[in-house]
Amino acid sequence: MRAGLAVPDAVSSNDPRYAGPAFWQYPAAQQPNWHTHPEYEEVRRKISGRPPLVSWPEVAALRTALAEVAAGDAHLLQAGDCAESIWECDSRQTARRIEIVRALGDQMASAGTRVLRVGRMGGQFAKPRSRETERIGGRDLPVFRGHLVNSEEPTLEARQHDPCRMLWAYDASKGVLDQLHRTRIRDRYASGSEGVVDGPWASHEALVLDYEGALVDRDRETGTTYLSSTHLPWIGERTRQPQGAHVRLLASVRNPVGCKIGPKSTPDEVAELCELLDPGREPGRLTLIARMGKDEVERALPPIVEAVARAGHPVIWLTDPMHGNTVRSSSGRKTRYLADILEEACAAKRVLRGHGQHAAGIHCEVATTPVTECVGGPVPDEEALERNYTTLCDPRLGPEQASELVSEWLRA
Ligand code: PEP
Ligand code: CO
Repeated sequence: MRAGLAVPDAVSSNDPRYAGPAFWQYPAAQQPNWHTHPEYEEVRRKISGRPPLVSWPEVAALRTALAEVAAGDAHLLQAGDCAESIWECDSRQTARRIEIVRALGDQMASAGTRVLRVGRMGGQFAKPRSRETERIGGRDLPVFRGHLVNSEEPTLEARQHDPCRMLWAYDASKGVLDQLHRTRIRDRYASGSEGVVDGPWASHEALVLDYEGALVDRDRETGTTYLSSTHLPWIGERTRQPQGAHVRLLASVRNPVGCKIGPKSTPDEVAELCELLDPGREPGRLTLIARMGKDEVERALPPIVEAVARAGHPVIWLTDPMHGNTVRSSSGRKTRYLADILEEACAAKRVLRGHGQHAAGIHCEVATTPVTECVGGPVPDEEALERNYTTLCDPRLGPEQASELVSEWLRA
């Protein structure tokens, strides 16, 4: 079977292929340690009673639009902060985030294809980390795990995991998601278009299971089970174990879903993930986000692309040229070199095309202002990083750097 063949109609949520033990019966990596917190049970009850943040018809509309990307008829841009701040979600700041995604999407569309725009926003509040602690001012502190879990302030107290933050994150997400909704409606009226909605849609890493699990919802009209915290949830590189709770959670909902694929993943493992996440081989259901690093992409990506095609999954292939290219500057800052980012993005596109696959687009971390977090273009060297380094987590591209990434990728 080859990609694009044997695609059944939508698989219903009570299809036995989606059955099996509930996600929480599988081991879960990267979870907060807040279960003994005095407010934990109360917050869980509250968050479960909150209304859905996005509706099933909207999620379904994105799935339909993504099917066009899977078919090779459109492109996809997914961009935004590494970690959103709960304290920077007012309507002006949100409008700027929407604007940068739109502008980069417009630039991608200048090649003549339709471009779907998806923000890393409206819920990108939880971060997987490689280490439990970090050393600051001679003390080991628990690492910052995103505003859904703790604060970035470098004190022991601020770094405690606090379940009440789930409610803050919900409220902040709601404001952003409502604004995205209004923007989509306004754009649709303005363009008079009825068909596919180009966005802006929302996405985030579905990481904290207490939060995401509480927002699994059933659409009243159709009985469909979906994750109502965002339109397009993805699974990160550190939580994509086939026998892990994150994969099982996203296997049990009908949203379009993403999964990061790093250089250590094997073709068999990725084929297994595809079988779990896309048993129905449905165009638009699964987006694989390759984040191999510039030195690994040409070695690691081809056998995986072949295995996925052989198994008949019509996946969308995105390239994330950020997360495999993180280095430390001489002053100890996390940074990325624009040249490395461009190299990986272009190499990934060549590999995909060489295997007869649609290089669907780019997943990147970008700020709304000219931050100095990655070296290249307007940031000439590592010394210049000190000028305006404000990220909560990973180093983002500034708007000019991101625009260079899009134009190089278009040219490749
Ligand atoms: C991220 O997207 O910020 C991230 C942590 O990515 P990955 O899971 O690919 O490391
Ligand atoms: Co990141």
